Amino acid sequence: MITNSHGWVLETRSTAYAFGLNPSGRLVHRYWGARMPLADDYPAPLDSPGWASFNGPAHLTPEEYPAYAGPSYIDPCLKVTFSDGVRDAVLIFKSADVLPGPNPGVDIHLEDAVYPFAVTLHYRAHEEYDLIERWASLSNHGDQPITLERAWSAQWHLPLGGSYRLSHLAGRWLDEWHIHREVLAPGLKVLESRRITTSHHHNPWFAVDRGNADEDQGEIWFGVLGWSGNWKLTAEVTDFASTRVNLGINDWDFAWRLQPGETFATPASLAGYTQSGFGAASRCLHDFTRDTVLPHGHILHKVLYNSWEATTFNVDVPSQSRLAELAAAMGIELFVVDDGWFEGRNLDDAGLGDWWPDRAKFPDGLGPLINRVNQLGMEFGLWIEPEMVNPDSDLYRAHPDWAIHFPTRQRTEMRNQLILNLGRSDVQDYLIDILDKLLSENAIDFIKWDMNRNVSEPGWEGAEGDPRELWVRFVQGLYRVWGTLRARHPHVIWQSCSGGGGRVDLGILRLADQAWVSDNTEATARLGIQDGFSQVFPANVMEAWVTDSSAPHIPLEFRFHVSMAGSLGVGGHLLHWSEADRADAARLIALYKQIRSVVQFGDQYRLRSAQHEPFSAVSYVSKDRREGVLFAFRTHIPDPAILPPLYLRGLDPQALYTVEGFDDTRSGASWMNAGLTVQLRDFQSTVRKIKRVG
Ligand code: GLA
Repeated sequence: MITNSHGWVLETRSTAYAFGLNPSGRLVHRYWGARMPLADDYPAPLDSPGWASFNGPAHLTPEEYPAYAGPSYIDPCLKVTFSDGVRDAVLIFKSADVLPGPNPGVDIHLEDAVYPFAVTLHYRAHEEYDLIERWASLSNHGDQPITLERAWSAQWHLPLGGSYRLSHLAGRWLDEWHIHREVLAPGLKVLESRRITTSHHHNPWFAVDRGNADEDQGEIWFGVLGWSGNWKLTAEVTDFASTRVNLGINDWDFAWRLQPGETFATPASLAGYTQSGFGAASRCLHDFTRDTVLPHGHILHKVLYNSWEATTFNVDVPSQSRLAELAAAMGIELFVVDDGWFEGRNLDDAGLGDWWPDRAKFPDGLGPLINRVNQLGMEFGLWIEPEMVNPDSDLYRAHPDWAIHFPTRQRTEMRNQLILNLGRSDVQDYLIDILDKLLSENAIDFIKWDMNRNVSEPGWEGAEGDPRELWVRFVQGLYRVWGTLRARHPHVIWQSCSGGGGRVDLGILRLADQAWVSDNTEATARLGIQDGFSQVFPANVMEAWVTDSSAPHIPLEFRFHVSMAGSLGVGGHLLHWSEADRADAARLIALYKQIRSVVQFGDQYRLRSAQHEPFSAVSYVSKDRREGVLFAFRTHIPDPAILPPLYLRGLDPQALYTVEGFDDTRSGASWMNAGLTVQLRDFQSTVRKIKRVG
């Protein structure tokens, strides 16, 4: 951390981020890129020139956190209305607190020139991950409410004058995580969620390059937002060749009445820079997530079995016990009962909200089933969907007002369910009490937390503040409920699911150790989905089940190999599997147990992207570079086909390695530069262990 007359420079292992006060006193961006040797290497904060009466200095100044004020028309981070109707904020620098410590940083204090409104910009450097973290706190020091209409986390500035390409992830339910790369042209590119969750459709992640980067080389500026509700990303190229990316809570239908004495803190945005391509950008995020975000980032995930696809809602002790016996014999370590176990839940039209064991299916509670699962040597997990309520439930009959709704409108049901207003503290308390009881009375090791619909009629009758606070208070309530349960039951591993990958972000991953990536488990589609997911999230977060959805045309071994590239699970109907299939599964699960620490904790290299190639490959290398594992997959390629070589990555070039299936011992440099060739038929795959031998 450098502080001098030019301002502040946050330095990480190889990058630097500089800003300071220009001669006019505005907090402006100076630099974001490779770390340089001298403090004076970083450019000084300058005043911007004006350009005719249409483009004054205010419009051209690269402010770190521009508020809407004055003759500036770029997309600002902040928009407020004061109680007298004034609708801009003129922020003046007051002071800075430089913070030493493991994540050094600085808090910059700004205040409105006239109104008792203070903004603190928080900056932290995560040195070993080459990441900068930013968020803002907005405080009302007066005696009148202030309305926040936009309160974003950060504006990230790209070097001036560049021509850039934006990479982002898009999709839909059953088809998430497609990578799109597009040239940024003058104007605004907007990505967002208005669905009250992160959404399947876009993820709050960006990677910007100069149009020439690939997996291994090229400058990348990348970032994320840690927020699990409505969010917005805008990438703006101004008329003066300045490119900025904004990230924050979505301002669409957003308002927050900031009461006297209150502070509103935005979620954090993290961003980084690398010269080593998209692969290195992903690995920075993977390491940061494993080391600092996940509750149990360095605990190996168990191989799980989930009975949903086998028994759907028809769960009881005999049906689950039969599956559990087969699962245990295959080497499964965690048995998860999905939907259908709670009161009145026989189909998707009843029961949500009544979180106690169904009296008909489990007359003696869950104890006998849990005991059986434990006797078989497995841990026990359970599915819940706490934010939801079926109108046919005791909860809804008692509290119809707890569902999100507009009083004069029809309540739109999707999957026969409505969303509870988790902004309300009574709803939060109900969920904490009933789920705490469930977790306290039963030996539950794992919870799959689902969320199976998006919002409609987002009303809040009787809200104390502005009803549009719902968007944020819902997420804050969710974090409180989940956080309280986590704190009371710290051994439990949680999974975030929302009809597949509808809620995966660095906010929810502070609570959940893993995420259900997609409801689409068809193995060839899954290859592309997993490749997209890996742009942002590490393999231990990526829960991947082997199911029957691509059987029989895709071999069991191929389906296993796909799932073994993440946190392996099985979801097929084991009673329908042949003995030979179950024996094969046992062999593959045993193999996974040998390689999983490299997969879950190693460095990931996307050697050939499954999003674009019918012959794809991914590898993982342990942090000490002693072990690795290579996965290669061929889907359909018309024969005759010659598969191109695979060039390994991440090995020590000077050290000697063997790769399973090859007789020669070669240097890391040779495996990486001369490569290797595997022979695969259509829908055939291979897993090869890589070992350092000298
Ligand atoms: C969602 C999930 C599935 C399953 C069902 C249960 O669709 O994505 O995995 O849990 O709900 O109703």
